[in-house]
Amino acid sequence: MQAVMVTGASAGIGEEFARQLAAEGHNLVLVARRLEKMQALAATLSQTHGVQVHCLEADLADSGSAAQLVERVQSAGIRISGLVNNAGFGDRGHVGALSLERQLNMVQLNVTTLMELTWRLLPQLREASEAFIINVASTAAFQAGPNMAVYYASKAFVLSFSEALHEEEKGNGVAVSALCPGATASEFASEANMTHTLLFKAGTMTPQAVVRKALASRKRAIVIPGLKNRILVWLGKISPRIITRRLAGLLQA
Ligand SMILES: NC(=O)c1ccc[n+]([C@@H]2O[C@H](COP(=O)([O-])OP(=O)(O)OC[C@H]3O[C@@H](n4cnc5c(N)ncnc54)[C@H](OP(=O)(O)O)[C@@H]3O)[C@@H](O)[C@H]2O)c1
Repeated sequence: MQAVMVTGASAGIGEEFARQLAAEGHNLVLVARRLEKMQALAATLSQTHGVQVHCLEADLADSGSAAQLVERVQSAGIRISGLVNNAGFGDRGHVGALSLERQLNMVQLNVTTLMELTWRLLPQLREASEAFIINVASTAAFQAGPNMAVYYASKAFVLSFSEALHEEEKGNGVAVSALCPGATASEFASEANMTHTLLFKAGTMTPQAVVRKALASRKRAIVIPGLKNRILVWLGKISPRIITRRLAGLLQA
């Protein structure tokens, strides 16, 4: 069986990727820690769209989890034709005040596992037709972010890595895209302790709108859903770095 893998598919943007990819007719491999949530989603998607959905429970903040995941997929006889590296989380606070363990987990999940899964799945993606990788970065990727330093730095990695890979894989038939959403209504803000911040109070996009844009633009190197987010990124590019980083810090104070 051929399938698209979506990490972080038990909630938010990843759950919506699963819904819209199933509606496109793709079989799916869903990955996250909350197996029951994914199984309920899988039952609905199989019934509604007639696709096969395989759910795998995994903590992708564990080193070695990417290798284990690829082995499990292979032993289930599944070939991956699309990869949505979406699982990720943030944490608000000063680096020195936040837990070291949580910040190391963030780098492992947002950066290392994303890169490792990409590397391990590239050979089979190159053999599939219309193959794609969507790496979920953020508008946070475009500047430094005081009060969320590690999260912003992790997303800068995702953007830079994906943009370079977009060029490298063009000749191999794999479309690589960095999806850069701004504030989006999901479990992310409460998980990151930022529901009361200006960034989230100023309004959020729905996961539905974010994913519609991501899938419609999956052949583009960088996708920023929403006009407000595109304007903010553009303003950040033309402003001195001292302004953009201080503004980012204020938005999530
Ligand atoms: N929401 C926003 O404002 C926003 C903006 C820009 C970018 N993003 C990015 O969008 C992506 C999705 O976020 P979201 O907004 O949909 O957040 P969310 O609602 O909190 O969903 C996060 C997903 O990641 C999974 N996950 C978290 N830790 C994991 C782990 N250790 N192992 C495996 N899966 C894990 C969660 O599943 P389990 O808990 O079941 O494991 C969940 O399915 C993230 O990369 C985030 O950085 C979000």
